Amino acid sequence: MDSPHHEFTYFKPTAASDIVAAWERTAHLIRERKAPKNITLYVHWPYCVSQCTFCFCDMQVPRSAGAFSQYAAMLKREMDLFRAPLRGIQFSRVWFGGGTPTFMPDGELNDLLNHLRSCFSIAPKAEIYFEAAPSTLTTSKLAILIKHGLNHITMGVQTLDKELLTQLDRRGQTSVGVGRIYRMLQDHPRVITDFDLMVGLEGQTEDSFLKDFVRLLALRPGMVHIYPFDPRPGTLSFQSGTVAQDRLYDKLRILSRTVSAVARRFGYQTALMYQDIGDDLNRDVEPVVLELQNRSLQGFGESVLGLGYSAISHAFGSCQYQHQRVGQDPLNTDGVPPFLSMPMDRLDEMHGYIVRNLTRYGAFYPAAFHEFFGEDVLNIPSIRTQLLNLRASGQLEISDKRIWLPTRDLMERLVLVKHFYSSSLKRTLIRANRENYQRFLYNCAKAGDQISEEVADRILSRSLLMLCTRNDLVGGRSAWDDTATNGTVSSETINGGPVISLRDDIRNSP
Ligand SMILES: C[S@@+](CC[C@H](N)C(=O)[O-])C[C@H]1O[C@@H](n2cnc3c(N)ncnc32)[C@H](O)[C@@H]1O
Ligand code: SF4
Repeated sequence: MDSPHHEFTYFKPTAASDIVAAWERTAHLIRERKAPKNITLYVHWPYCVSQCTFCFCDMQVPRSAGAFSQYAAMLKREMDLFRAPLRGIQFSRVWFGGGTPTFMPDGELNDLLNHLRSCFSIAPKAEIYFEAAPSTLTTSKLAILIKHGLNHITMGVQTLDKELLTQLDRRGQTSVGVGRIYRMLQDHPRVITDFDLMVGLEGQTEDSFLKDFVRLLALRPGMVHIYPFDPRPGTLSFQSGTVAQDRLYDKLRILSRTVSAVARRFGYQTALMYQDIGDDLNRDVEPVVLELQNRSLQGFGESVLGLGYSAISHAFGSCQYQHQRVGQDPLNTDGVPPFLSMPMDRLDEMHGYIVRNLTRYGAFYPAAFHEFFGEDVLNIPSIRTQLLNLRASGQLEISDKRIWLPTRDLMERLVLVKHFYSSSLKRTLIRANRENYQRFLYNCAKAGDQISEEVADRILSRSLLMLCTRNDLVGGRSAWDDTATNGTVSSETINGGPVISLRDDIRNSP
């Protein structure tokens, strides 16, 4: 209910001119070195070839022949809007997500990237990143992306199982196609290629998942993200009623040891986001976590200029805002998408930094906080009071290096971080909850008892996103990365559990 990224609970409709003014303030703070200099440009391309039955993304299958060019024209208008306020500010990351940005026709893609570079200044070593569905990545498209500086791509594979792909209505993808695109990318060594893989899909067996995992690791991608299937109400699977009661996220919980052991064998390290598994899997992941804190798209405090429907933005020290979600209605591409925002000052940013890090990792680093805000966290009175109170009650630990919540219970963590909400956020929440209470009750009544189970399942499933990173990429500085720390991670990041026995056909594959 009170996550800034869901349901707009406390985001208010805001005029475009106010958002422009917010960016003017943020640009001023960046120039004065009172805001982090790293800033991300995110572009949301909502269109996909088909709607995969499992998908929870903000996407649409295009409704008309003109949809692509109209949406691209709208994105260009939004770029024009922020050209002047952000003049002279260098973007350190350019991310295209979706939907499927590689589904954009060649002409629109080239034109949009040209327009982007004419409006904004991109740092020479900026990360230029695309999400890609393999079936949409052609030779000509890749050539356009390379020309515009692509250096990082995630290929959404999800599964390589042919029958499963049909069942999931993931059209156009074949394992031969994935291999072909991957080989094409290998001709461009400066492009780091990652894979998304899913576990717990309807009809997917453990063997089929592990087989896919081994086949992908053998290709030596930069990273494999393993997503446990999250059957949110927006997914076709949920709507068809086939998965509502299944606790599918358990699949990754059960498999996590095996996944870690397999990853290690291939020279990869694993880390669990939002992890709540109370065993030694998490023993040595701190450096990985520290690195993730510095590299997340939301930046854990850095500014993000998000363009297009559903995009989330953060003008540091001014406001957070989100565009209207994609939904199922045809998109109105006149003008720019509506803005919904919430004001943020610098103190809110500090509180927000702590809330996000403690929620996601159960810890944060005073040195990283200092690097970010130029101030000692224990010198901020409103934060200091809460830290010391929680320590006195045994719910928080403080050392020179790290501040952390010892609990391994994610729900408890979510409650404890509320102590760090800033007073202005608390005021906003109280106001917003009053206004949204009726809507919330209505939604609960509509969804019946399912809603509480749904919420719990959803939080737990997110708790288990697993990242497998190639050893040589952990702890080092990659070409694009100005923000990564120099933290190094031992090759034995995750301690092994019991001996894993994999079936021979998996062990020897591919
Ligand atoms: C924004 S989607 C874009 C992926 C891209 N369009 C493709 O299909 O390759 C990013 C990732 O979210 C993951 N994802 C989508 N629906 C999910 C769900 N219901 N539960 C968990 N992960 C999901 C998939 O792994 C997907 O690759
Ligand atoms: S998984 Fe990718 S291609 Fe499939 S519907 Fe979601 S965003 Fe579109």
